[in-house]
Amino acid sequence: MIILGIESSCDETAAAVMEDDRRLLANIVNSQIDLHGIYGGVVPELASRKHLEDIYPVVEQALQQAGITLDQVDGLAITQGPGLIGSLLVGLSFAKALALVKKIPYVGVDHMAGHLFSVFLGENKPDFPYIALIASGGHSSIFHVTDYLHYRLVGRTRDDAAGEAFDKVAKILDLPYPGGPIISELSKNGDPTAINFPRSWLEPDSLDFSFSGIKTSVANYVKQNHQLIMSGDEKMRSSGETANICASFQEAVVDVLVGKTMKAARKFNMENVVLAGGVAANPRLREVFRQEGGREGFSVYMPPQKFCTDNAAMIALAGFYLFRQQAVTSLDMDVYSRSRMAEPA
Ligand code: KG4
Ligand code: ZN
Repeated sequence: MIILGIESSCDETAAAVMEDDRRLLANIVNSQIDLHGIYGGVVPELASRKHLEDIYPVVEQALQQAGITLDQVDGLAITQGPGLIGSLLVGLSFAKALALVKKIPYVGVDHMAGHLFSVFLGENKPDFPYIALIASGGHSSIFHVTDYLHYRLVGRTRDDAAGEAFDKVAKILDLPYPGGPIISELSKNGDPTAINFPRSWLEPDSLDFSFSGIKTSVANYVKQNHQLIMSGDEKMRSSGETANICASFQEAVVDVLVGKTMKAARKFNMENVVLAGGVAANPRLREVFRQEGGREGFSVYMPPQKFCTDNAAMIALAGFYLFRQQAVTSLDMDVYSRSRMAEPA
């Protein structure tokens, strides 16, 4: 089965072509980072307008890369939510038009399910069941996954998501959006033990997260130790202080993300643990996740970095599993801004 996946939930317009769940024939991701960068974050109205401009060429490019025409596509998989309503609507309307004109069946895919199964795009694939941490810009969630259609939320953030914390701390340090990649880069030259930022473990049994406290701690630290905030304090940067703040912040977030996932895996007697979502592109998180997972005797899995941040390959893949269940979506389907998956059962 040839599946065309389309993703437009936030600031990437993406299209991918998959053959079953085995072969990725095309993967195009058109990022809008340059457009939103000057505003320090995603501007929803600009995002949807840009999706509108880009969606047709991006899909065409994907078909070209795969060496196929629309007539050879057996199914469409489209991100239904969560995300920015205007952006999601561009992708959905485009997919509906294709479905109607070309008579191709289509399914709406939850973006979180895309991240959850993105691990199967890598060489090393886990067996079910597994515990998965999805750390992205919008969510930090732990799922207990029993098969392609059954997963249960067992932990989530009570305030900011991990990626959101990276983005907000970058803003405090006057670093460009998105914060994750630049903070992980600067951290390489910093001392992770320089500043002891708080780790929020919540109640002893809790698998939930909270990242708004650490963001405030970073803001307070900068305020107390430096005169200039948000204005590219040169002295602070040249002293290596920015690198130390980045490394110490990153270490604290990584500690909690890994600690809670391992706790969940122990609680549910799992053998396999999975890491995915945009923050899973972070090299330090990958390293500590592998180390701790190995130390605890778990088998550790994560998609290659390019499949951690938003892409349409993961949407095509998650769509394939829906098609296998013949869960075809009707054409009056609508988008949603909050994930049903991300709410406790
Ligand atoms: O999954 P994703 O691409 O989009 C959402 O579904 O939200 O995740 C984007 C988030 C952003 O907050 C970004 O700062 C973060 O992932 N991110 C990273 C890294 N690369 C992207 N966070 C930490 N380290 C990275 N290397
Ligand atoms: Zn995402």
